Amino acid sequence: MSKTATIEIDGKRYEFPIIKGSENEEAIDIKKLRDLTGIITLDPGYKNSGSCTSKITFLDGELGILRYRGYSIEDLAEKADFLEVSFLLIFGELPTAEQLEQFEVDIRKYTLVNEEMKSIIDGFPRTAHPMGVLAALTSALTAFNPKSVNVDNDKEMYQAVCKTMGKFLVIATWTYRKSMGYPLNYYDNTKGYVENFMNLMFKLPTEPYKASPIVIDALDKLFILHADHEQNCSTSTVRMVGSSHAGLFASISAGVSALWGPLHGGANQAVLEMLEEIHKNGGDTDAYMAKAKDKEDPFRLMGFGHRVYKSFDPRAQIIKKAANEVLETLGVDDPILAIAKKLEAAALEDEYFKSRNLYPNVDFYSGIIYRALGIPTDMFTVMFAIGRLPGWIAQWKEMRENKEPIGRPRQIYTGAALRDFNKPE
Ligand code: CMC
Repeated sequence: MSKTATIEIDGKRYEFPIIKGSENEEAIDIKKLRDLTGIITLDPGYKNSGSCTSKITFLDGELGILRYRGYSIEDLAEKADFLEVSFLLIFGELPTAEQLEQFEVDIRKYTLVNEEMKSIIDGFPRTAHPMGVLAALTSALTAFNPKSVNVDNDKEMYQAVCKTMGKFLVIATWTYRKSMGYPLNYYDNTKGYVENFMNLMFKLPTEPYKASPIVIDALDKLFILHADHEQNCSTSTVRMVGSSHAGLFASISAGVSALWGPLHGGANQAVLEMLEEIHKNGGDTDAYMAKAKDKEDPFRLMGFGHRVYKSFDPRAQIIKKAANEVLETLGVDDPILAIAKKLEAAALEDEYFKSRNLYPNVDFYSGIIYRALGIPTDMFTVMFAIGRLPGWIAQWKEMRENKEPIGRPRQIYTGAALRDFNKPE
């Protein structure tokens, strides 16, 4: 017999089905709660609420498990490449060699960005944060691609996916080129996706440029690790915006804005700034640990803690190993890495952090690699966005194909009761 949950309100009992996911996660299905009882649930921050069922990503925060479409993140980071993982997330299965090649060919059809986009970029001051510029440019792509996608047509959906993968990478790098005052580069359709990222970012018209294969491999892995993370803040935002049937570019633009915050993707920039500050102030990690534990001090140890992971973040473990390897291979001796390791070791022994299950998250070591690869600090969150793009697309596509209703939470009103209108004297 299937399990149910009973809620008793004013002596009246109501039964609700308990549904089970494919990994045996359980949820009380309260779809009929308000209709039956007139009452709603209240769950700020959605700590206990599932917003959808999804076949894309599974994570178990207690056991530190992360899987895309059933494949472990450890296997994918080691054995797959970023476009392969993107295809897997978006279309549900690993591509054959032929499908993967075709995917890359089809993305290349859309790598030219409308020249008029450049005049939009020119309107921004060079000091603008790249994430703000990226959100605006992504939204602006809607103006140049106004036809909305017919989500019931596989061909149109496929084209929309390829278009978004192609154009987003280019405009993401343009945010950096703008901040440096460099000419904006074009995608080179004879080269791979991640190699193109490096060319778009760093190639100057005055000199030959060849990205190092070590750097390309490291970035490919980082993008894979960031590619999806089920219903986090930015992904939920993409699904929410898309649920009103807003287009893919508009939904992704909203995701970029949500990702920007320091409690989410913006943490990778904040981590590096924190580590640099500790280094500048003589490397006294104890003082920063004390600040993080002081309830009177708003400071938090950036790159620590996670809403879902309560034993370890599997992405952080892979990235820590990669950081060691990349720095060694590139011959970079960065004192910041030593500070990060010291902080991590101290936190893992500390009662405050242990009792609250606070462990390094994906953002703790990623910035150290980005820095070694020559990526400027304020581009770190843009790197996260490039990696997360296939996840956002996959979640948007799933939400539309499942014909999910418009996202519209309720509230409990706690403001003033009806009062007479009198102008204040
Ligand atoms: N440093 C110090 N104390 C912390 C930290 C931290 N980094 N994170 C959580 N705590 C404390 C918090 O003060 C609270 O203590 P108490 O129970 O005494 O009030 C307790 O731990 C629980 O914290 P919470 O804020 O209720 O937990 P949450 O699930 O709402 O927040 C979080 C999760 C990631 C926003 C939070 O841990 C945080 O702010 N971390 C730092 C920012 C960061 O690294 N964000 C990147 C997240 S991973 C990448 C991504 O997916 O975006």
